Amino acid sequence: MSRFAEPQAAAFQALNSSVGFDQRLWPQDLRGSRAHAAMLGARGIISEEERDALLGGLASIEAELDAGEFAFLPDDEDVHMAVERRLTALVGPVGGKLHTARSRNDQVATDVALFSKETALQLRAQVTELMQTLVALAEQHLDVPLPGYTHLQRAQPIYLSHHLLAYVWMLERDRQRLTFAAQQADRLPLGAGALAGVNFDTDRQMVAGELGFAGVVPNSVDAVSNRDFVLDLLHAAAVCATHLSRLGSELVIWSSQEFGFVVLADRWTSGSSIMPQKKNPDAAELLRGKAPRVVAHGAALHGVLHALPLTYNKDMQEDKEHLFDAVDTLALCLAAAQGMLDGAAFNTERMAAAASDDLIAATDLADLLVKRGVPFRECHGIVAGLVRAAVESGRGLGELSDAELAAQSPHLDPSVRAVFERSSWLESKVSEGGTSLPRVREQLELVRALLA
Ligand code: ARG
Repeated sequence: MSRFAEPQAAAFQALNSSVGFDQRLWPQDLRGSRAHAAMLGARGIISEEERDALLGGLASIEAELDAGEFAFLPDDEDVHMAVERRLTALVGPVGGKLHTARSRNDQVATDVALFSKETALQLRAQVTELMQTLVALAEQHLDVPLPGYTHLQRAQPIYLSHHLLAYVWMLERDRQRLTFAAQQADRLPLGAGALAGVNFDTDRQMVAGELGFAGVVPNSVDAVSNRDFVLDLLHAAAVCATHLSRLGSELVIWSSQEFGFVVLADRWTSGSSIMPQKKNPDAAELLRGKAPRVVAHGAALHGVLHALPLTYNKDMQEDKEHLFDAVDTLALCLAAAQGMLDGAAFNTERMAAAASDDLIAATDLADLLVKRGVPFRECHGIVAGLVRAAVESGRGLGELSDAELAAQSPHLDPSVRAVFERSSWLESKVSEGGTSLPRVREQLELVRALLA
């Protein structure tokens, strides 16, 4: 019997069906069903024979899915219905007992939680690997100077190691966010039933233990309504993708002929269909281009959940494609970032040459005047005058004559020329977290400890 007097309209079926995308949850769905069947048997809610029949059928289904032989049918609304249909076909009417004390509402929440937790930890492992690559590059390029930029204008020289380590700290925060997202997905929704709990004395702790959850969601209404853990993962993914977009952008800029700071491996670049000389940093560009897509998935799910009345609503089926595409995109971007950095050759001479423009020492000269008692704001003006004189005459600061220096300030005697020694610009940044080598070595110790 059916409550419905007519079949579903074709367009409704197309709108309502999720099996096309949620079938990738089959490993989680089968694990959840196995744990549920085992619990029903252990609590005497079904007999041990019935439990064994269900477990046997689920094992056959798993084999079919593994072998790519499982046929999802157009009438299967979602992965849960498909599995139950096949189970009943394999083991007979007892297959219908699997859904005792369970609803698709707590079932799907459980599948998505398992998926989110696993995926967060996989992404975290990828982030860790990328951090290790960056640390190794920093160690190899410990004392290579390059200009640090603000507004993409040369600002102050830094070591390449220091610049690369900035990404390591960004990624460390990404790891923390991914860990948090995994923790948020670490409570079992199953056992909530449709929303109110179930009419059976189930053992949710047993199911939680079986599935590797740290505990159970304490409130059945919350259990079926909650998708915060998806939002948390999407947020972590969005920030991480945004970090990679900045890395990608720098690789684009640095690999341009104008900069020439880095040469990307051929296997990470592509040619032009018309200009034979081109070697394009497409992968780096796509690190930039993909990030907003990941961000948008998070924004979309916020929209789905916004003002949604409790408890389950079909709107929530929309969580999956946003989640899947976001994590797939990020996984791909992390792999690309990893691959590009692995194959990147830094042109340390170009970098050092760009960092040797002595205008970059303007702040150091100002600070030297500060040390001679001149208030910083005045020093800024004095050095600005020198910069202007140098730029207008096409010279470096160090090429200005003693008389020109002295004309700006009585404190600018010839001894200030020590400031134009290149290494001093970097090694004078002695403050904690600064670019001087002892400070960079301190940072390396900290990140090595994090990664140990
Ligand atoms: N395919 C559904 C989803 O992804 C499963 C839950 C369906 N629940 C329901 N009450 N219709 O959300």
